[in-house]
Amino acid sequence: MPRVPIYMDNHATTRTDARVVEAMLPCFGENFGNANSVHVFGQRAAEAVDQARAQVAALIGAEPREIVFTSGATESNNLAIKGAAAMYRRQGNHIVTTRIEHRAVLDPCRRLERLGYHVTYVPVDRFGQVSVRDIAEAITPETILVSVMLANNEVGTLQPVADIGKICRARQVLLHTDATQAVGKLPVAVDALNVDLLSISAHKMYGPKGIGGLYVRRRVRLEPMFDGGGHERGMRSGTLAVPNIVGFGTACALCQREMVQDRDRCQELRDRLHDGLVNAIDDCTLNGHPNERLPGNLNMSFANVHGEALLMGLKNVAVSSGSACTSASVEPSYVLRAMGVSDELALASIRFGIGRFNTVEEIDFTIEECQRVVNRLRAISPSAQLVGVK
Ligand SMILES: Cc1ncc(COP(=O)(O)O)c(C=O)c1O
Repeated sequence: MPRVPIYMDNHATTRTDARVVEAMLPCFGENFGNANSVHVFGQRAAEAVDQARAQVAALIGAEPREIVFTSGATESNNLAIKGAAAMYRRQGNHIVTTRIEHRAVLDPCRRLERLGYHVTYVPVDRFGQVSVRDIAEAITPETILVSVMLANNEVGTLQPVADIGKICRARQVLLHTDATQAVGKLPVAVDALNVDLLSISAHKMYGPKGIGGLYVRRRVRLEPMFDGGGHERGMRSGTLAVPNIVGFGTACALCQREMVQDRDRCQELRDRLHDGLVNAIDDCTLNGHPNERLPGNLNMSFANVHGEALLMGLKNVAVSSGSACTSASVEPSYVLRAMGVSDELALASIRFGIGRFNTVEEIDFTIEECQRVVNRLRAISPSAQLVGVK
């Protein structure tokens, strides 16, 4: 039996890789300087930041000076959306996004609506994918920004960002992508994607929490969120979090080096989990795109079982029902709803997030645990008894 509890919620966060921690430690000790200071302590810290900036940039095919360090993807999304909206206000007041974005995109858009901007929320199909044509049709002469995530955090569906980018280029509209769940897991290149702004978070890719980045294409300008020392080309004031930045850079370098093996392993484990669940349990269905999906993502609905009850029953396996960021609410997931999944099945859904440190033994154990708990819950569920589900 594998060591329990098993962690299988890698979309919520990932364990910091030991190699990342090791790289960070000197920044709490001898290399404690402020990267803005001109003396030797400052210069040493600045060199470490430069190296990390180059590592982050290399992972996404950007230039180091196009990376703005932030506290994470929530801040990156806010800076991209509100910063572009404020900077380009005179050119228009319309933003296009999708119904399945993370709250860190939807909520800034809602705030902008309260400030007088107009936002179009484009729907998705049953796989959670937005159509390029729908995005194209939503763009008006007033549109200043399109924001479409690269991979969804609940169902893992990948979006046709590169094609959307071509349209945005032709219409001279900025394109932002929240790539939080995709960076480090799949090849991401800002030029191939035709994006102007791209959000990243270190803690989703085996780096530390509280650090992330925003890629800002040359010549794109953003109104900063706060005023101060003018760090990060004036876009993000505040003393640089050197230990976190070094950890972020190391995490990027590791992901770049190990991407193919990580991806293949996660996908294999994910497929093993899917096949095992489908064989062991009646009436469980996949949510999300069958192929165009993050390698470690598996979102399943178990008919006649409440996801929260399943979550409580699965004491030895840490998973999520719906998005971790909205798990305080018992509302069915708005992402699944937007895909046309019924409220009943949306409430019966579980998100498995497989990552670098999961093993075959853990997958097999998880299948057995799910089978045991689902059968027990169905046995006491009146609706299950009515339709005769085992
Ligand atoms: C798609 C997506 N965007 C943004 C965020 C927020 O990231 P952070 O925790 O770095 O603020 C998350 C985290 O759940 C996410 O999955």
